[in-house]
Amino acid sequence: MKRIFITFGTRPEAIKLAPVIKEFEKHPEFETVVCLTGQHQEMLYQPVNFFGIKPHCDMQIMKPNQTLFDITVDSVRGYEKALKEMKPDLLIVQGDTTTAFTGALSAFYYKIPVGHVEAGLRSHNKYSPFPEEINRVLVGRLTDLHFAPTETARKNLLNEGIPDEMIFVTGNTVVDANLQAIEIIRNQGLDKKIEQFLENVAPGLIEKIKSGKKLILVTAHRRESFGKPFENLCLALKDIALTFKDKVEIVYPVHLNPNVRKPVFEILGNLDNLHLIDPVDYPTLIYLLEKSYLVLTDSGGIQEEAPSFGKPVLVMREVTERMEGVDAGIAKLVGTDRGKIFNEASRLLRDKKAYESMAKAINPYGDGRAAERIVKIVSEFFSEK
Ligand code: UD1
Repeated sequence: MKRIFITFGTRPEAIKLAPVIKEFEKHPEFETVVCLTGQHQEMLYQPVNFFGIKPHCDMQIMKPNQTLFDITVDSVRGYEKALKEMKPDLLIVQGDTTTAFTGALSAFYYKIPVGHVEAGLRSHNKYSPFPEEINRVLVGRLTDLHFAPTETARKNLLNEGIPDEMIFVTGNTVVDANLQAIEIIRNQGLDKKIEQFLENVAPGLIEKIKSGKKLILVTAHRRESFGKPFENLCLALKDIALTFKDKVEIVYPVHLNPNVRKPVFEILGNLDNLHLIDPVDYPTLIYLLEKSYLVLTDSGGIQEEAPSFGKPVLVMREVTERMEGVDAGIAKLVGTDRGKIFNEASRLLRDKKAYESMAKAINPYGDGRAAERIVKIVSEFFSEK
């Protein structure tokens, strides 16, 4: 039996690894050990509980206003101990967080092979996304099995000299997570509960949407935007809310990071049709996505999820490593410029043709079977050894 050590520390990693954990658990030749760094606390346990993941350990490293140095040092120390105890045959990380980087680095120190889910994404800009671009480049150097979501990601890895036989195009596991979440929501009849929850945090919202107002879903929390760019982005949202007062309702679940919350509440705190709510759980996010007309975000995961629902995405970042959506004409890069964000959103609210050309339900990121492929590849990796 091979021991697979799956590790993560933030909410998006939990969502994207949940299908992989579930798939490994179906296979008796594997023993799956789930270890959290706890880089996030509240936000991490939402998806962990929703998907029914049972963690074996939690390093609980999160501190208020933690720096990258804190996360790096504390998680490396945590991994030193956890990996010594567990002695896994393979360590799996996801994406580009500091948890993913230090996990891969720690496995390397113990000479444990590394599998990287969502390998090969690149913006080719060292400081944007910061520090994620360098995290994923470094994880790439430490990885033995690269699970690339798309052909573009595969090419990025080949360009960096990673041998072809170490790269596998699997699709992005976020699409698997989406489908599983929709099934859980349906089976457990969660729709009503979600609507009740939203009625508490954003009174009247559901009614207004049902009576024809357009819902705009917003998320934004990136480190490289902190400061002026982030303020501009908030001002653009304010312009949209005021200009389209009778037409739109905006919902913005605000990340718990104090660097995000301060400007958001200062600039957007007092608008009737803009609802600032705490981060929502995964089923609520899916519900909001499904009900939305348009999505404005700097999140990577939401860029990958919105296409499944046929929702146009305006990406509020200067660069994106997820160009597949832009190339397919379903996402647009609008940066953090106040005027540009406002103009593009206005166009999609006023011009039906422009809207319809972007609102296509095709997902270039995956087909919902990525986790199945990943487990098969790992199985073959061990049988060839
Ligand atoms: C991290 C990841 C980023 C990912 C994001 C998803 C790194 C460097 N960044 O950024 O790639 O897109 O997670 O959310 O790995 N906080 C809480 N409770 C929580 C979570 C966060 O209070 O449950 C607050 C804490 O004050 C914490 C701060 O948010 O200090 C920032 O969290 P951190 O993990 O450092 O960075 P993120 O911006 O969340």
